[in-house]
Amino acid sequence: MNPTPQIFVLDAGGQYCHLIARKVRDLGVYAEVRASETPAAELASAKGLIISGGPSSVYEAGSPTVDAGIFQTGQPVLGICYGQQLMAHLLGGKVTPGDKGEYGLATLELDERDDPLFGGLAGPQQIWMSHRDAVAAVPPGFSIAGRTSTCAIAAIAAPQRKLYGLQFHPEVVHTTRGREYLHNFVFSICAASQDWDPRHRVPMLEQEIRDAVGGRGVFFFVSGGVDSSVAFALCNRALSASRVRGVYVDTGLMREGETESMRRMPGLGVEDAAEQFLGALAGVTDPEQKRHIIGEEFVRVQERIIESRHLLEGNWILGQGTIYPDTIESGGTAKASVIKTHHNRVAGIQKLIAAGRIVEPLKSFYKDEVREVGRELGLPAELVDRHPFPGPGLAIRCLCSEFDAPPRATEDGWLLPVNSVGVQGDSRTYAPVLVIDTLDHARATALINRLRGINRVVASIATRAPLAAMQVSACSLTCERIARLRQADAIVRRLSRESGFDSRIWQFPVILLPLGVKDAPDSVVLRPVDSVDGMTARSVDMDASLLEEICAELLGVAGIAGVFYDLTHKPPGTIEWE
Ligand code: XMP
Repeated sequence: MNPTPQIFVLDAGGQYCHLIARKVRDLGVYAEVRASETPAAELASAKGLIISGGPSSVYEAGSPTVDAGIFQTGQPVLGICYGQQLMAHLLGGKVTPGDKGEYGLATLELDERDDPLFGGLAGPQQIWMSHRDAVAAVPPGFSIAGRTSTCAIAAIAAPQRKLYGLQFHPEVVHTTRGREYLHNFVFSICAASQDWDPRHRVPMLEQEIRDAVGGRGVFFFVSGGVDSSVAFALCNRALSASRVRGVYVDTGLMREGETESMRRMPGLGVEDAAEQFLGALAGVTDPEQKRHIIGEEFVRVQERIIESRHLLEGNWILGQGTIYPDTIESGGTAKASVIKTHHNRVAGIQKLIAAGRIVEPLKSFYKDEVREVGRELGLPAELVDRHPFPGPGLAIRCLCSEFDAPPRATEDGWLLPVNSVGVQGDSRTYAPVLVIDTLDHARATALINRLRGINRVVASIATRAPLAAMQVSACSLTCERIARLRQADAIVRRLSRESGFDSRIWQFPVILLPLGVKDAPDSVVLRPVDSVDGMTARSVDMDASLLEEICAELLGVAGIAGVFYDLTHKPPGTIEWE
């Protein structure tokens, strides 16, 4: 049984709402998420409240709010991002819409103060911002505790009332002292006690699986990735091996060597569905449509397998390795906006969830926690430490175009007529990409913050022709392009493994763009990122010698005209391009 929550995180629709709760739990304090409008009386049992960020503006009709009674109970309240703006707005301060916004790394100048939240943290420090609106005047009784070069009110406090606000995100890893802010709030201000041990997960998960499955068996579709493998192993442990079965579906969208290695796994069947997936995707260019089609095809294959093997008649249910970011970025909390629809949250699967016919033991866990569970289960390091690979596979890394169009020269670089998905101020964006000529992350961040209408900046590394002579061509997902991307991905993976670079990063997507010249219609974008949980990420540099080696091999692949390097952090750009 879980303890009574000491901290409630009020969900104002932010992408990081559950991350806040998890960070509090990591401090050893049990926290749960509640709808932001929950009446103050129902929150009174908690030692403190945190209002999450969110995609709205406080002035929008219907934007999330809180019961203002929470500010009268004497309970400590911490507002984060939109939470700070909402607190300021409801208590008589002023919020103004920003026209540009601020996304990514910033430097906070925190004043020297003698108060329990900010004490000991004074001075310049790296923080993570993702907002458009900002507080322009603090409410009566509040003072300003810190600022950045573009945000004059980045931290506020009314210590006598135990009310605090942070415009930045203390819950993400890129805010280097973020954990200290949460620690100070939870222990020094809320006086919470430690009642939660994040390590005792495996027995708890096994019990949850047994409760959910009852006397039935679990049938798994294993992707070869960390999540489904850990979920499969957990079910094998929780239930007897005869009650757990698995199949791997070859969608034709997998990486080189993947299907062959799955064929060698004992106890796992392989279903060849490449033609079915590629057929359904023919002519499709829109990323959300691709994701929906892949999700629905998965359901079809799954249903075919289930029917032909009479699994449901025989008391079997489906197991999935869904993890927390898969649900949250598909709009997993009540108000979070849909950034991307993940393949395991489409309608067919939702129906099975509603019918209680799915078990997803890892659905409230983040990748780093899944890896810890995998280690606790004794799974091999090469499996547990694998880079994540998205369920829809190479399809969402192979960009398509409905029309022919050239890149356009602008004052700041070349604007590509290719859109990619981003996440800015907690909302999904789908915008063109800017190409610059230097590997300069600071310049890329400044450009995205300054220019409206782009969400991603890449550096041009090597091209067979000048950009002025290249063009985006109308194309869709063809076997030929998927094979080209698979070959490029295999080259990048091999060189990054041999050089040791892969162990220093979280993930290294390789993207195929329909940008090229006559005999070489595509280009490759390298997207190495560092992250802890996939929710935020930093684009990372690599050694010039490795980059040179990668470029030389990639330009030797038939059909590839150029190599680019993605300089965009998340936010504003998601890790995957679609
Ligand atoms: P984004 O692109 O949203 O990715 O920043 C965050 C992490 O999630 C992975 N990802 C997926 N994983 N099914 C998955 O299993 C999906 O549909 C999917 N889309 C993105 C992505 O590779 C990154 O690690």
